[in-house]
Amino acid sequence: MSNLKASRPLSVSQAISQRHSIHAFVRDRPVPRQILEEVFKVAQNSASNFNIQPWEVKVISGEKLSQVQDKLVKSLENGMPKEMLEPPAKFRDRIEKQGRVLHGEGFGIAREDKAGRHEVLKLNFKSYRAPCMALFCMDKGLATPDVASVGIYLENVILLLWEQGLGSIPQMTMAWYPEVFKEEIGLSEDLQIICGLAIGYPDEDANVVKVRIPKRRWEEHVTFWE
Ligand SMILES: Cc1cc2nc3c(=O)[nH]c(=O)nc-3n(C[C@H](O)[C@H](O)[C@H](O)COP(=O)(O)O)c2cc1C
Repeated sequence: MSNLKASRPLSVSQAISQRHSIHAFVRDRPVPRQILEEVFKVAQNSASNFNIQPWEVKVISGEKLSQVQDKLVKSLENGMPKEMLEPPAKFRDRIEKQGRVLHGEGFGIAREDKAGRHEVLKLNFKSYRAPCMALFCMDKGLATPDVASVGIYLENVILLLWEQGLGSIPQMTMAWYPEVFKEEIGLSEDLQIICGLAIGYPDEDANVVKVRIPKRRWEEHVTFWE
């Protein structure tokens, strides 16, 4: 169960604790435009560095989403981007743990099954079958504090969607092939893609919707100095 059926309204603590990324959506259940508009209206009150409000959001659904996805999958088949940043080795353990739960328990793919893992990567570019995706961008001239602002905004959007019974998953993979978005939605050269967000109703029957990614204990990284 994704907890999306929990009774509402939700407190902020409940929404944060219950939320999790969704890796399988119901493709033929569209996301009501009215809900999206309400979510973006409320999220507009997010904190931001100098009140720059750096987020630029492109919401894509319907036929346009299918066209974008076809091109993204084709791009993937032609190769991964050359300049990909690898996280430092000290974080490998957490990344591998996530892979074990997601690929192993969730998608039922063995560790050595390269083809299976590639299929999951391909699913990324189909937004895990979500009927809607949002692209979170910001001006290329901005810097780290502004990425934090976009992150705060993004999480507010995710929680507001959750409150409405909608699941989502942020996707950095949507920044891999910016040329697709330039061609398909006229994405400006001035903008950089921070990440995508697949949005939709979770497929409650999918095993991968039932798994949870393990988290560190908060005491491991919060220190108090008095
Ligand atoms: C900035 C960002 C980018 C992410 N990119 C991807 C992605 O490209 N593909 C994917 O499947 N999940 C992606 N995720 C989801 C994470 O894998 C997920 O948040 C993490 O495993 C923790 O799980 P939870 O969201 O269920 O708590 C991303 C999350 C964030 C915050």
